[in-house]
Amino acid sequence: MSRRHQILIVDDEVANLRLLRRVLGKDYEILEATSGQEGLDLLKQNKVSLIITDQRMPAMTGVQLLEQSLPVNPDAMKILLTGYTDVQALIDAINAGHVYKYIPKPWDADELKLTVRRALETFELKEHNIKLIEELRSAMSELEELSMGTIRALADALDAKCDYTAGHSLRVSRIACLIGRTLGLQDTELRDIELGGILHDIGKIGVPESILWKPSQLTSEEREIMRKHPSISAQIIGELRGLRRAREYVKHHHEYYDGSGYPDGLKGDDIPLGARIILVSDAYDAMTTDRPYRIAIGHDRAVKELSEMAGTQFDPNVVNALLQIAEGGADALNRRITTDFDETFLGLGVTSVDARATGKHFQAELDRKARLMATESQ
Ligand SMILES: [Fe+2]
Repeated sequence: MSRRHQILIVDDEVANLRLLRRVLGKDYEILEATSGQEGLDLLKQNKVSLIITDQRMPAMTGVQLLEQSLPVNPDAMKILLTGYTDVQALIDAINAGHVYKYIPKPWDADELKLTVRRALETFELKEHNIKLIEELRSAMSELEELSMGTIRALADALDAKCDYTAGHSLRVSRIACLIGRTLGLQDTELRDIELGGILHDIGKIGVPESILWKPSQLTSEEREIMRKHPSISAQIIGELRGLRRAREYVKHHHEYYDGSGYPDGLKGDDIPLGARIILVSDAYDAMTTDRPYRIAIGHDRAVKELSEMAGTQFDPNVVNALLQIAEGGADALNRRITTDFDETFLGLGVTSVDARATGKHFQAELDRKARLMATESQ
């Protein structure tokens, strides 16, 4: 053993303390107490590795002391010395105080030394394990942080391609969280929904801009390419363990309740609930913001259309939840997902995106392209 451990010895008889110190004092740093209370005080002030206590003491027994030592120093090893065979005290000690060893009096010096040595070896092993677990934990959270960083980078990449889309993802994510909360989902599920909302259209990174921003109807070929985006999104998310559920939501966010959606034609409850929620949030946001192929139809008409398609395209329960959170109208809902929104489960909050300003960028870009084309043709 490389280091000098501190051992607390507690006995109401000073002669016994002296005896223990004589046997152990050469190899260890000894702290002495003549009562349980005094022992507890010393425990608070020192880094004790081992407590050796007599069982029979006035005011506080050895077992009581060991029990009360747990909140102060849960890791210290504990040895109980007792002068008479008290089975009940022993059972209590094992149950309440996590006693490492019970030594009957009178004890043998060599045997005691060996027991103390073994106890401290166990203590060091425990300490080492705790350190390893701590290291593992911090490595895991570092990894988690890293993957969250990647997600942010992905969201930013989509933002760079078309800030209309990124603002859309943020709004979808937040509306989806509000719906999830209305449906009584747990925080862990809401976290996955928040992530899924942010990432649902990330696969559009792989869709050519000529298709993404096409102001007219897509050809069937173009539509096929567009329909690949949920699967591409899921592929981009990959096999990260912490994103397994979010990945499923993303992959299936275009499945329709009646089975007529894509990519797998899933139906009803076979579609993950998170995906059904993201679909409704996505549809509401798409209808209430300008798109390359049409301008917004407005809150009231959007709500009406969603209600009409409840049961065919959408899960009726999810639509109902949306109707509840959208009761106060477009402005109220907008406030809830912008200025009032403080319930992010990830801390993702892509603050650089102004949800109110989105939808304007592509229009400006279209205007710019139109101007360019006009000058080119001159
Ligand atoms: Fe989508």
